[in-house]
Amino acid sequence: MSSVVVVGAQWGDEGKGKVVDLYAQHAQSVVRYAGGANAGHTLVVGGETLILHLIPSGILHSHVRCIIGQGTVIDPRTLCEEITALEARGISVRDRLMVAGRAHLVLPYHKELDCLREKGARAIGTTKRGIGPAYQDKAARRGIRVSDLRDPARLTQAVEDNLSYWAPIFEAGGVDVPRVADVAGEVLACAETLVPLMCDGVAWVKATQERGDHVLFEGAQGALLDVDHGTYPFVTSSSVTSGGASAACGVGPRTLDHVVGIVKAYSTRVGEGPFPTELHGEAGDQLRAWGHEYGATTGRPRRCGWLDLPALRYAIHINGIDRLAITKLDVLSELSELTVCTAYEVNGTRYEMLPSEEDLADVTPIWETVPGWKSDITACRKLEDLPKEARDYLNKIEAWVNCPMDLVSVGPDRVQTLGRLNPFSE
Ligand code: IMP
Repeated sequence: MSSVVVVGAQWGDEGKGKVVDLYAQHAQSVVRYAGGANAGHTLVVGGETLILHLIPSGILHSHVRCIIGQGTVIDPRTLCEEITALEARGISVRDRLMVAGRAHLVLPYHKELDCLREKGARAIGTTKRGIGPAYQDKAARRGIRVSDLRDPARLTQAVEDNLSYWAPIFEAGGVDVPRVADVAGEVLACAETLVPLMCDGVAWVKATQERGDHVLFEGAQGALLDVDHGTYPFVTSSSVTSGGASAACGVGPRTLDHVVGIVKAYSTRVGEGPFPTELHGEAGDQLRAWGHEYGATTGRPRRCGWLDLPALRYAIHINGIDRLAITKLDVLSELSELTVCTAYEVNGTRYEMLPSEEDLADVTPIWETVPGWKSDITACRKLEDLPKEARDYLNKIEAWVNCPMDLVSVGPDRVQTLGRLNPFSE
């Protein structure tokens, strides 16, 4: 048995969905532990594209049981739609998906509140999926949980109490205060589907670990968007680092055996916030076009830039990453030369690792260039098939950040993956 955590090591969109899907072939259980429908995991199976926001990608494997854990915030309607979409493709869901009763609900008006906040001066470029307001309610102890779906009267009362807090904010924003009955009605319409899936999340994960299952903990977003460790305030509202898996699922950190960090071969970010290696103008546009860098959830163009090693070293440290999976290496194939940021300079001081207390706007990246490979690598099926320059780039990344590489992705399909495909094998 072992437990492996898969985390994003940048600003999200590293390709976690594809890696979790591959790893899940060797797992018995997959646990989604953070975030909500702000995530968008794009899977390509047999040439068909599928985007999942809440249900763990592992659901595509008929032997895998999945849980959406209690550290997440669940938009009930999105979850019901995903269940329906998967079932329409012949994938059984209800016998293999559980939802932690302690997970909080994203209410329909949380999305409106998210939009209202984004209209203000302190916009951070959220996904407008209501994530921030839902976690705000949770922390303020006025949130509504999946378990509340069992009792319509209690849920309706909870909505009324909750709305009394938000009403002045709607009014100040010039928006009609939602009606309690409408909100409760919309949420309760999902109860029939979701209540049978509800379980005690801690007991579920405990049981799967005690059975000796291989368990995958599926992260969402990326380390630099973590509410504690990311580029605050331009972060999401949950603990997306590997420690979040332990805290949110109620499993001791010593039961987690490996942490795989997913790293894109370059960098992207959506929304506002510092991005020291960002490429502006034509170079950034070119990278976006090659990598099809548009948000899976919002369709927004992603900001693109070079690989940022100080940020990666930081992500490795705060997550305890012991293995790397490099994705989208093929996107760099047109370049005759690649650039990498190996360190930062801030006010005359050199930093090998992203400094949390510094203003990243003042960072001067220290660059290094390496030769590109200028050839199509999408048909490579073994690491040895890669051109020497591509292997050199990978070897250099390993050495620069002092972390071994397990896996390399050279295209969106499952077969376009090289290296160790089974994270549970020693
Ligand atoms: P929120 O999570 O929607 O509140 O958004 C907060 C910040 O996190 C924004 O910059 C979003 O663009 C970013 N974000 C949230 N989820 C994702 C994701 O799955 N991929 C990339 N960025 C994300």
